[in-house]
Amino acid sequence: MNLQEPLPKNLILIGFMGSGKSTVGRELHARLGYELVDMDTVIEQREGRPISRIFEENGEEYFRDLETALLKELHGCQSGVRRIISTGGGVVGREENRRLLHNMGYVVWLHAPVAVVYERTSRNRERPLLQTENPVAKIEALMEKRQPWYEQTSHLRVDTNGLDGGELAVGILESARYFFSNP
Ligand code: S3P
Repeated sequence: MNLQEPLPKNLILIGFMGSGKSTVGRELHARLGYELVDMDTVIEQREGRPISRIFEENGEEYFRDLETALLKELHGCQSGVRRIISTGGGVVGREENRRLLHNMGYVVWLHAPVAVVYERTSRNRERPLLQTENPVAKIEALMEKRQPWYEQTSHLRVDTNGLDGGELAVGILESARYFFSNP
């Protein structure tokens, strides 16, 4: 980060599928008023089809390329607009993405246990990576692989268990206060 330039003031949410990023993003938006960018939603809108179909028709790498392109776009945006950016759970898989995210603002890692993730994600069939024989085993394996990436990308880890979106938003803002009050 170039110290001559003002700190980027984005608030970025990362974490596994079902960890509450979209919900917390909306709560933060209500409190901060910053523009809310839900990366999955932007990609779906631009592609005109749900993520499940993007995976089905073009494969995961195509989706990952869209994710990286959107991140670069947000990173390069010089408008000074402050944003809350809610990411997809797999965005940390690429080293380039991890670097971009870390430099774009205050990165908060929302962590939820496997059982909670399973309970939330099994309510619908929106997550192509979990449409397998044994989704719990898939969640465990993916979580283990991604854990170090969430760790190195984030400035703050938040354990979400037992807290609702509003409580999480208040806690995050409290922790981020120094970051946001610094010029
Ligand atoms: C993915 C998570 C999803 C979505 C896509 C891939 C992942 O986003 O980007 O299905 O690899 O973990 P959410 O974390 O919002 O479910």
